[in-house]
Parts: sequence; C-alpha cells; structure tokens
Amino acid sequence: MCGIVGYIGNKKAVDIILKGLSYLEYRGYDSAGVALIKKDKVNIFKAPGKLNNLCSIISKENEENVNANAGIGHTRWATHGLPTETNAHPHTCNCKSLTIVHNGIIENYKDLKPNLEAKGCKFQSQTDTEVAAHLIAQEFETHKDLLKAVQSAVKKLKGAYAFCVMHKSMPDRIIAARKNAPLIIGVGDGENFIASDIPAIIEYTKKAIYLSDNQVAEVKTDSIKIYDENDELVANKVENLPFEPIALSKMGYKHFMLKEIHEQPDVVRNVLFGKLHDAEAEVVLDSVRLNKEQLKKINRIQIIACGTSLHAGLVGKYVIEELTKIPVDVEASSEYIYRNTIADENTLVIGISQSGETADTITAIKQVKEKNSHVLIITNRKDSAMARLADSLLPINAGIEVSVAATKSYMAQLLSVYLFAIFLAQNTENADENALQKIKKELLTLPSKLEIILNDTKNIKEIAKKYSSSKNFIFIARGINYPSALEGALKLKEISYINATGYPAGELKHGPIAMLDETMPVLAILNEGIVYDKVLSNCEEAKARQAKLIGVTNFVDEKHKALFDDIAIIPEISDIVSPALNIVILQLLAYHISEYLGKDVDQPRNLAKSVTVE
Ligand code: G6P
Repeated sequence: MCGIVGYIGNKKAVDIILKGLSYLEYRGYDSAGVALIKKDKVNIFKAPGKLNNLCSIISKENEENVNANAGIGHTRWATHGLPTETNAHPHTCNCKSLTIVHNGIIENYKDLKPNLEAKGCKFQSQTDTEVAAHLIAQEFETHKDLLKAVQSAVKKLKGAYAFCVMHKSMPDRIIAARKNAPLIIGVGDGENFIASDIPAIIEYTKKAIYLSDNQVAEVKTDSIKIYDENDELVANKVENLPFEPIALSKMGYKHFMLKEIHEQPDVVRNVLFGKLHDAEAEVVLDSVRLNKEQLKKINRIQIIACGTSLHAGLVGKYVIEELTKIPVDVEASSEYIYRNTIADENTLVIGISQSGETADTITAIKQVKEKNSHVLIITNRKDSAMARLADSLLPINAGIEVSVAATKSYMAQLLSVYLFAIFLAQNTENADENALQKIKKELLTLPSKLEIILNDTKNIKEIAKKYSSSKNFIFIARGINYPSALEGALKLKEISYINATGYPAGELKHGPIAMLDETMPVLAILNEGIVYDKVLSNCEEAKARQAKLIGVTNFVDEKHKALFDDIAIIPEISDIVSPALNIVILQLLAYHISEYLGKDVDQPRNLAKSVTVE
C-alpha cells in the first residue's frame, strides 16, 4: 500500500527519497510525489503512474529546485479519488507553506471539511489527506509551531494515519505521527530518516525507532524527540532492524516472485530449524506462551486471516482437526469483525499474516482480545503491529518477501501451522504418536522434494505456455488440497488477470459445470489418499464436457493417463503434507503464464503487498 519516505540531513534528499520509494514499490501504488524544503522554499513534484514518471519530471528540473537536504516522499495507493496528479501526495494548504504525505484513512474527513471550508480553505483534490493538510495549517496559525500544530490536529482526527509534515517557516524539522499505520524513524549520524517500512532505509541505517500509536515525533538533523498522546516527551527506544540490504536483490532471477519461489526449500529449513530436530523428537515452540494445563483447556480454535494467509489457515484447519480433534473455524478477518463473534478464555485465536500490518486482521485481533482468548500470531514480521498485540508469537522467518503475490511466506505459514498442530497434539491426551512421527518425518523431507520440483520446471513452463491464452480457469481439489486450489486460483488471477476460480471438486456439478466446454481448462489436484478416486470421478465429469484437464498429482494410474491433457507430477508425499508440494506447481504455473502474457509479475495492478486500510 502507500509508502512514505522522509529524510533530513546533509545529503541530497531527493536521491534518498526516490531510492527509498523504489524499495517500497513492491507494496503497490498508482502515483507518487515528493516535497523538498530548503531555507524558506518548498518544491513539490507529483506524477500519476509509476515512480519512473516522477523521476523523469525531477530529472528535467533545474538543479537549484531539487537540491535540498530535507524532504518527504510518497507512493499512493488510491482510496479516495482517482490516481491522478492532483490526488497524489504531498498535499498542501492554501499558501502551500505546509506539506504532508499520509498513509491510512482519515475517517472523519467529511465532518472536518465544512468547517475548514468556512475558514477559507480551498480544496484541490478528492483526498481525505488534504483535510489533514488544511487542519494542521490552521493549527499552525494558532500555535506558530509545527509540533504543537500536529499535536493539536491529531486529537481531532479519526481513523488511521502515518504521516510526515513539513512547514516552510521551520525547514529544519519534519514532524511525523502515527495511529494504526506503521511508521519508523531511522537513526543516522547527522541525518535521520522516516519510513513506512524498513526496505526504504535499510541501506543507510540499521537502527530505528518504531513509533507507537498516538505518538508524534519531531525529527531534525541531529535530534529525534518523541511525544506521547499527552504531549509528554518519552525516551527514545532504538532497535536494530531485522533485514540486510541484500534481501532486496533479485539475485539474478528475472523477478522477485521467481526468486522467492526458488527460496522455498531454504525457507522450509529455516522454519524447521530449532523446532523440529528429528521425527522422534518433540516439536519445540519456545515462543508459544501456553503451558500444558492451558493447552489442554483449549476446546475451540479460530483462525483469522486475509488473502493467501487465509488459505494457509484453511490448511491449518484440516491439520489441526486431524491431529488434535479440536474444532477449528477459519474466517476472513473482514468477516470476523463487526459482529459478536463467540470466543472465550478457552478459545485459542490464531491470526496469520505475512506483513503483520493488515488492518482487517489487526481489528479482528483487537476485538477478540477483549474476550480473554489467547491470541497466537503467525507472521513474517516480528516487528509488526500484530506481533506487538500477540499473547504468543510464532515468527515464520521467511525473510523479506518483495513480490506482491505471496509464495515463500505461504510456504513458511504452512510449515508453521503444521508445527503448531503437532505441538498442540503432543500436549493432548490421545495423541497418535505414530501419526505424528510420520508427519514429522515427511516435513523433514520437504526441502529435498521441493528441490526436485524446482530443479526441473520445463514441463510446467510448457503447460503454462499452452494455456496462457485462456480467459478462464477452474482449479478443483478435495479435502486438504481444497485450500491449494483456492490459493492456486488466487495466484493466477493476481498476476495474470485471468478469471480463475478454486472449487471443492465435488461442487463442480452444483453450478460451475455449466461453464465447461473446450475453452475452459480445469486443473485438478489429486493425491493418492482418501479423496483420490472421488477427484478422479470429478475429472471424468469435466472431461465429458470437453474441458481441457490438467492433473497435478503424486500418482497417476496408467489407465487414467489418457484422461488428462497435461500432467505435472510431484514427488511421493502423504495427502496431509501434500499442500506444501502441490502449491509450488501452481505458483510456477501462475508465474510463467503471467510472464508469457508480459504482465507486471512483481507489482500487479491494483494490488498492495500490505493492506493497511479496512
Ligand atoms: C494483500 C496481499 C496478499 C496477502 C493479503 C494478506 O492482499 O496482496 O498477498 O495475502 O494482503 O496479507 P497479510 O500480510 O495479512 O498476509
């Protein structure tokens, strides 16, 4: 989603800001802008579309106008108003003395606007942000100080915000504020940085202060002062940032997505490391703060998540119920909120999120915390808002994921869910030791099996090429691979814009079968196991309607070979662990189709990596 970068120091601010914004491009955006401040002059540059458009405007500018040592920049993901130059940030007040870049949504902007208009404020854009610009400018008139103006204004704002503000008459400072949207202040030597996420500043500093909700910061070249909601100065808590700049390199791959798909064997090794030593050993999850007694009392589990993380949660339902016999409900966070969900102190609530910043999931977690349920967060960002809300934290250690379409983080979430299910089963009365050992053994074989798939992708590339001109796609599966079908379809539509749908194979005959003809590819996931024959029958039904059939399987009987137009084989694996292998085939299929179609694989249109608005 929107990205923020601010810089104040002795270097050329525009270079640092534009580079920082480029490292946030992966989060998804549709316009960009920069404000630079020098002595008593502010210059603003904005452009719709990609950052390149902004860069080329700036490159044509007179050096005098862009040579400043302080500035703020923004990539905007449109919420209020089209992605036009006018709606792009920074926004300003009437006299253009004040500039602001903002992430989040000012929910009461329509309530505030008439009063500001009555005071003479002229609005240029359709954004909620411009209201904040005028409001702070009005406060500045009263207080004659930017920090005080922001402190006063934020008390009137409702909703979510992370913003940076500058004022022409105080060019030595940037004021930053946050509520329900991430913002960090990078601590430098004779220079300081502000960013909505680590990649923007990691090249310059590994030290940062994470602003908390309702805090306001005054950032100068050589000082950072943080104030709480009562305007009291608080001590700076400087933390080490968890990433290395190298994580942001494609390492020779054409796209981040392809690199991240290929990282999955190592991701699995990372997740298992220190938690699952061998098949005979117990799973160790030190960060789960539930003792044996508490674990035994859990009689219900609710998993809440969005997008790809929701699909990992759905796999979790099958695994946890199978191993622990505890009932599990899985729900999209946006559906879980704003109703009276039933949970109590014996309910375990698991929030799954790559970013740890997804607004819907954060709201759901906050809501359920009031019911005294224990909240376990499974996330790739142990520095995120969700991690800070967690009673127990299970970091998935997938490393930074740049491609908008989640791949390796999904794999790490799956593995974490398997480990947690085994951990929970170990602590229940009737655990089936043999079943647990079998799964643990298979989890340990996953890295080498994933390598087998990834070392030979010729077949899947050919399948991708053959079907890349399809307008629609249906993915079917049953049981534990039904979520794989959903995730495979999601990957394909996210990055290729092909209309792809995932269905439980048994549901095909209850509606979707009406769409089948020779133009409709049906991809079936069928693993040897309890539902194999059933999925096979559903494939026959599809074939009888002349659909093109692609099988993804660990086993295909000679007598059934003719049924499939194309087959992708995965290594031998039990049904319960098979989602971890099947998904790689589907990720590769989506990637190569998108590639053949010439789409923007890593930054698909309209999508954001981290969705910080509800
Ligand atoms: C966005 C991303 C998806 C992601 C979803 C949930 O829509 O584009 O890839 O699955 O958010 O994000 P989270 O960070 O909570 O897993």
